[in-house]
Amino acid sequence: MRRPFVVGNWKMNGSRERAQALVVGVCSGAFGLPEVDIGLCPPFVYVGDARAAIGDASVLLGGQNCAGVERGAFTGEVSADMLADVGCAFVLVGHSERRTLYGESDDEVARKTELALAAGLVPVVCVGETLVEREAEQTEAVVGRQIDAVMARLDDDGLARIVVAYEPVWAIGTGRTATQAQANAVHAFLRERVAARQPNVAAGLRILYGGSVKAENAALLFSEPDVDGGLVGGASLDAEQFVGICRAAG
Ligand code: 13P
Repeated sequence: MRRPFVVGNWKMNGSRERAQALVVGVCSGAFGLPEVDIGLCPPFVYVGDARAAIGDASVLLGGQNCAGVERGAFTGEVSADMLADVGCAFVLVGHSERRTLYGESDDEVARKTELALAAGLVPVVCVGETLVEREAEQTEAVVGRQIDAVMARLDDDGLARIVVAYEPVWAIGTGRTATQAQANAVHAFLRERVAARQPNVAAGLRILYGGSVKAENAALLFSEPDVDGGLVGGASLDAEQFVGICRAAG
């Protein structure tokens, strides 16, 4: 049985005060949900505060991104090791905003995945197609290429430690979510792709759906057999909404 995982990605939103209030709200909701892994990705500068506010609550902290290199003269970058050092348990890699706005290549995402694993973090590898790609029936080709690039750099042990997030670009922040069937079809495709390499890993692989997940649509999406939780943007900026989504995964 795969344990559900729901991650809130705040992106570049909030303030120190708001971050604190959000963490406190999510932690109190998390007490009633021991069957769900709950994660939060605050902006880097609030990770330390969030760590302190979480205390003993079972909420995991994650980075929204990490550098594709280990250390050195890379002004403005934050390494996977540093994220682990300040109490992160996981990190998003290859979010579509990183791929499209910052030009991250499939191989760079794969390299970040490797570095995250080496730092002891769980990489949440994001994949997804644009609207143009979906309309051109390229969805499987695109997400297949994205997951293959990551698999090419990992051994089976590494592969067994990743989480995948399917985020169709056209559903991110648009209010337009994939239907249950659309989401599950891509999740099943990704699981099969991993199964072709390692069936046991594929069976245990958690694949999260992201793209306009709200408390109202979460239960239906999460009821699909290959959907193991969610990666939530906008709705994670409201503790009550986000806890509602976490509850739908339980
Ligand atoms: P929204 O939930 O705002 O669509 O964002 C999804 C996302 O990009 C999470 O990483």
